[in-house]
Amino acid sequence: MHVTHLSLADFRSYARVEVPLDPGVTAFVGPNGQGKTNLVEAVGYLATLGSHRVSSDAPLVRMGADRAIVRANVRQGERQQLIELELNPGKANRARINRSSQVRPRDVLGIVRTVLFAPEDLALVKGDPGERRRFLDELITARSPRMAGVRSDYDRVLKQRNTLLKSAALARRHGGRSMDLSTLDVWDQHLARAGAELLAQRLDLIAALQPLADKAYEQLAPGGGPLALEYKPSAADIVGHAREELYEQLMAALAEARKQEIERGVTLIGPHRDDLLLKLGQLPAKGYASHGESWSYALALRLASYDLLRAEGNEPVLVLDDVFAELDARRRERLAELVAPGEQVLVTAAVEDDVPGVLTGARYSVAEGAVERV
Ligand SMILES: Nc1ncnc2c1ncn2[C@@H]1O[C@H](COP(=O)(O)OP(=O)(O)OP(=O)(O)O)[C@@H](O)[C@H]1O
Ligand SMILES: [Mg+2]
Repeated sequence: MHVTHLSLADFRSYARVEVPLDPGVTAFVGPNGQGKTNLVEAVGYLATLGSHRVSSDAPLVRMGADRAIVRANVRQGERQQLIELELNPGKANRARINRSSQVRPRDVLGIVRTVLFAPEDLALVKGDPGERRRFLDELITARSPRMAGVRSDYDRVLKQRNTLLKSAALARRHGGRSMDLSTLDVWDQHLARAGAELLAQRLDLIAALQPLADKAYEQLAPGGGPLALEYKPSAADIVGHAREELYEQLMAALAEARKQEIERGVTLIGPHRDDLLLKLGQLPAKGYASHGESWSYALALRLASYDLLRAEGNEPVLVLDDVFAELDARRRERLAELVAPGEQVLVTAAVEDDVPGVLTGARYSVAEGAVERV
């Protein structure tokens, strides 16, 4: 798929901007702080309902405005769709598809698919487990948009279960008497039900991603691998991929952790506490890999995501935000060659020279709020 037109109102630094887009490569070039990343961030938002830079919507709305609009025309094969998102920080966001407002924002997921490369990706390797969970869950949702519902069910159940555990912990500390915990059993089931579904999808994804990531790393940094992706569940003894099995295993782990959970007042078992161990050779990349190796690792994970989504049908838009400036000449050329054939590739760079020669296509200059074709 590709975006044929992007239109923003009160999004980040833009009061209004209209950007017609072609398939193939488009590069946005301009000095620092002029709004290049803001443009591609909006495209990413259509695909994930989130930003790769911030965890809430508030910074996405132009200072002084109370809502932002992101609108895009999207073409997939012969099919043309118009999607519109209205961001209302602190209130519910709204969505329209082909001008119909009988949809939730979540229904937009799957129409635009992106794989976004950005300097922030280094955190995939070096950062907290939350970064890797988000990577997995965004990709799961891109593969199967209904997982957005499962993710939000899980988050809701987790929040309610934590509230219950917290008051149990307080009652225990202050009252001496333990409260009635029979409702906790019900929350265990809900948590394990949604948790098992999420877990099954993550395990399945990692199995599919592993060979692709290994191949991509070999292309970027020949002889430097192999890579191994290992899932690290918070529940011990997770075996198999089948949802029913995983449900039973989560239930058992929750039963075992219950005493400790009540003491601590928080849910200790489940996908929200899991991690993805990224190994390079025999060692974990985090804490051991060099800066350059970590970068190659992050790029390999993104390239693998791209290969996977493409192989599964709908080709995603590739977004490369400021990545070439971070790479040495060899990796820059390799990456450029690998992404060049993409159906649509959006590149940002502060100077024209940072855009590798093989990425020929449309050029826009971005300066002082104006985006102009050059
Ligand atoms: N909500 C907002 N309201 C108004 N301006 C904003 C908002 N969010 C960000 N900006 C402005 O947008 C600019 C940053 O834009 P962006 O990150 O797209 O720059 P860039 O062109 O990618 O720069 P670089 O080359 O440094 O990556 C900053 O000047 C920032 O102040
Ligand atoms: Mg930028």
